[in-house]
Amino acid sequence: MRIAFFDAKAYDRPSFDRYGAQHGIRFKYFETKLGEDTVDLARGYDGVCCFVNDTVDAAVIDKLAAMGISVLALRCAGFNNVDMRHAHGKLHVVRVPAYSPYAVAEHAMAMLLTSIRRIHKAYIRSRDFNFSLNNLTGFDLHGKTVGVIGTGRIGRVFIDICRGFGMKVLAYDKFPYPGLDNGDTIRYVELDELFKNSDILSLHCPLTDDTYHIIDADSLQKCKKGVVVINTSRGALVDAEALLEGIKSRHVGAACLDVYEEEGDLFFEDKSGHILEDDTLARLISMPNVIVTSHQAFLTEEALENIAETTVQNLLDIQKDGQCPNEVCWRGGTAQDCKNGKCF
Ligand code: NAI
Repeated sequence: MRIAFFDAKAYDRPSFDRYGAQHGIRFKYFETKLGEDTVDLARGYDGVCCFVNDTVDAAVIDKLAAMGISVLALRCAGFNNVDMRHAHGKLHVVRVPAYSPYAVAEHAMAMLLTSIRRIHKAYIRSRDFNFSLNNLTGFDLHGKTVGVIGTGRIGRVFIDICRGFGMKVLAYDKFPYPGLDNGDTIRYVELDELFKNSDILSLHCPLTDDTYHIIDADSLQKCKKGVVVINTSRGALVDAEALLEGIKSRHVGAACLDVYEEEGDLFFEDKSGHILEDDTLARLISMPNVIVTSHQAFLTEEALENIAETTVQNLLDIQKDGQCPNEVCWRGGTAQDCKNGKCF
């Protein structure tokens, strides 16, 4: 099987080459992202593999289908960049539902600690032999309340980590996880109560119509003064303009962002020699209490191994059986969940 692999980075190749070679799958790596202008590169391949910032809209899906390509392997969990409704009946869309919830949850905590203990400032100071502690005062996490929106795989690992720090947890999920609420240190509450009583907010839900800009001017206004916002999920969960206003007005105490609404053409690329056109991102990055990483939370050795292994297995399943447990359908669940049975 030959697969056109879009948005390829050097760190993707070793694990995909290894698992691919074990199962007779050859990947052709294209550095460019998948989109209407680049989809023709997939001609002649048996399938395509893409990532979070590739664009799989109706035009791309129609072109892939016209080329006879029937499988799109997402090497990520989220599929908000795919027009799932349009893909129905044309493409098998498979994904990696979980590669390492620990990678993302641990990154969220790393960002939080870096931010509130001012490690990013201290690191630069000590390299300059500036050993002053002025303006480096942080606060204890112990006893603080963290609001966790989305208590799936990553959210629950993050909750475990927070509990290890002695924090209280207020959780919100459209589909609460049975047994998680212990009536004491971890409680499911409505969003308004979560906003009102949390010292820290961490987002671990998918991007859907319901969750688009779940953090906006209105919700920030409901939050405690000094709230710390962590987003390692999807950029458009946060209205970045509203967050910037919250930072400028000193209502928001700090922000830790691994994702950004307009990250598509920026994140994962070296733009250091360029003038950043995005004023909102530039202003956010300029703030002493904002930490931005470029969609890095997943990037651990363990996660890369799991992504390659699962993607190869997904492709083999579709090739062999025409179905796969990790196939997603436009109804939002797995293809097997479809009430009407098979999508194809
Ligand atoms: P998951 O599917 O295990 O959990 C998502 C949770 O969100 C579920 O419990 C679900 O019920 C809940 N949810 C759905 N709609 C909701 C709503 N309207 N309001 C509140 N909660 C809602 O997913 P997982 O593995 O925990 O991943 C969470 C998100 O993390 C992914 O959707 C993805 O966007 C992001 N992610 C980010 C990565 C990074 O590198 N920064 C890497 C992997 C995932």
